[in-house]
Amino acid sequence: MKAIILAAGQGKRMRTNLQKVLHPILGKTIVQYIVEAALAADVGDVTVVVSRDGTDIEKELSTLYPQLSFVVQSEPLGTGHAVMAAMQCIKDNDDVLILPGDMPLITADFICDFIKYYQSNKADAVVAAVYRKEIGDFGRVYANADGTFKEIVEFRDMKPGMVETNWGNTSIYMFGGSALRHGLAKISNNNVQNEYYLTDVPKILQNDGKNVRVYESRTNEAVFTGINTQVQLAEAVSLMQDRINERHMLGGVRMIDPRSVYIDDVVEIEAGVVIYPGVILEGNCKIGKDVIVGANSHLRNANISDNVCIMQSMIFDSIVGAGTQVGPFAYLRMNANIGDACRIGNFVEIKNSNIGDGTKAAHLAYIGDADIGRSVNYSCGAITANYDGKKKHRTTIGDGAFVGCNSNLVAPVTIGAGVMVAAGSTITADLQEKSLGIARARQVEKLNWVK
Ligand code: UD1
Ligand code: CA
Repeated sequence: MKAIILAAGQGKRMRTNLQKVLHPILGKTIVQYIVEAALAADVGDVTVVVSRDGTDIEKELSTLYPQLSFVVQSEPLGTGHAVMAAMQCIKDNDDVLILPGDMPLITADFICDFIKYYQSNKADAVVAAVYRKEIGDFGRVYANADGTFKEIVEFRDMKPGMVETNWGNTSIYMFGGSALRHGLAKISNNNVQNEYYLTDVPKILQNDGKNVRVYESRTNEAVFTGINTQVQLAEAVSLMQDRINERHMLGGVRMIDPRSVYIDDVVEIEAGVVIYPGVILEGNCKIGKDVIVGANSHLRNANISDNVCIMQSMIFDSIVGAGTQVGPFAYLRMNANIGDACRIGNFVEIKNSNIGDGTKAAHLAYIGDADIGRSVNYSCGAITANYDGKKKHRTTIGDGAFVGCNSNLVAPVTIGAGVMVAAGSTITADLQEKSLGIARARQVEKLNWVK
């Protein structure tokens, strides 16, 4: 079995410079979903047809799925022409599955059922048709009562007075290799778009006495949402969102309002997690057991351990240990590595830092490029002055230290274990273990000065 994925179309109707099949849907590109469905259906060799400008597609897909092959369609002259470009990989006795590159919701289950139908009917060609309430811009498929093929008429080639149908062409086909080669040799570009349509091949084969059938699928039509425009892209995002969220809810995740929650396909979430409205989880996020992700939190590449509670916060490329509380309104970014049972409170920003277990930075603080021990109290308004205008420097704080309110820790600087930094101090030199660091003007009281 061989599969050909058509991904060389110009995507004119998207009206962007980005190749159509590289548009993103919840963390993956459109074409990635089709490739993954084909690989999950175990179809064997998969060849992707890309355009001359399709080097980005090839680059992206070949790093993710090294087993794929690629061929270039020299000019975008239609779906039939795209398949011709791939025929160099097809032998006469191959069975060939053809998939469009712009239908990201196709499932491996559908592909497997479709292949079984082709095999059990010993067909030379099968067109997969789907029943659609609104047929839209799909090609119209007409079949005879016995399931044999009658014709496909492209939406643009419909003539006044033609009988309408609800059976749409999914652009998914099975062909015998020799039949496909025979049919492609005979197609022309005599149609409204002056393109070589793959949809003409089944008719040619039938006229030449081959066994051509229509597989009428009543699978949920959403599975065959094709993306030609930004409107259809947004529809596909919404459908994929439902599919991903359903998977997590069936796995024991509670969502207050799943419609408002956007989770990338690769995100992993344990059972018992509660997700409030407006949450976005992107990239390689891992969310441990019984975590609470509060409203409007935005996480990207965040590794969150069990029992963490996050309120209205942003966490990017960072790690949060078990039982820690984050937010409201915390901003953890670029390798913030937070230990267990910490408290990172409101308006606290942490960047490129390690924070030991049980440490608290409860309000209004900045920690950048720092290594902070366990059970440190990092008080309100304390900051690391990590940047001297040219370079970033590190701050080190030992276990059990107490950094008073509104302190400035001018890096590079080391605060020993158990040190007390007095409120309002600007610390520019290292402090030994258990000492008091105080660096501020003494208070002066001028009696009766106001009078
Ligand atoms: C196609 C079908 C239509 C079907 C619909 C399903 C044809 C002529 N029409 O129309 O019957 O209902 O899909 O969504 O096949 N491509 C290339 N090279 C090209 C042209 C297209 O590789 O020269 C690729 C595109 O990247 C895309 C796929 O083929 O992934 C389908 O092409 P598209 O232009 O989207 O076809 P539709 O107009 O949607
Ligand atoms: Ca399409």
